[in-house]
Amino acid sequence: MTTIADIAQLGAKVLRLTAEPITDIESLETQQLIKTLQDTLASTQGVGIAAPQISVSKQLIIIASRPSNRYPHAPLMEPTVMINPSFKALSTLTEKDWEGCLSIPGIRALVPRYKSIKINYTNTQGQHLENELEGFVARVFQHEFDHLEGTVYLDRVENNRDIFSESEYFKAISPQI
Ligand code: NI
Repeated sequence: MTTIADIAQLGAKVLRLTAEPITDIESLETQQLIKTLQDTLASTQGVGIAAPQISVSKQLIIIASRPSNRYPHAPLMEPTVMINPSFKALSTLTEKDWEGCLSIPGIRALVPRYKSIKINYTNTQGQHLENELEGFVARVFQHEFDHLEGTVYLDRVENNRDIFSESEYFKAISPQI
């Protein structure tokens, strides 16, 4: 059965909470939560989602970079479910690029992120994994990880002039990247 949840929108308190770690990965409740988050992401053009965006304040994200109308230049990867994720920067080098968020429709902005990171997470089978991410996928991870700490990407924008309406973004910016 497919369950598609409503996406919490900016202003909802759940987007500002610190998410709780998941300790019962095998439980029916957690497995259903994972399925609902997968189904909800698949129903959108997003490249990632975090459980707080479906109003569940738990440390669960999905990274699913794929080209779409929203992100025509995104690299293709298998959707990856990450439980209790963490990361560290592999260098202090950051770069600014465009982001959007399903919880903040109609807006895009330039956000500085680490270019290269090392991540740790637990998968749906309870295995601890680590990986190194770079560029766009590292950006998506950092964006989704922020949701687990009650942060949204607009909090990281350095200059309000880096915020565009989505219609202006597609007109002016998207063809160039
Ligand atoms: Ni988001």
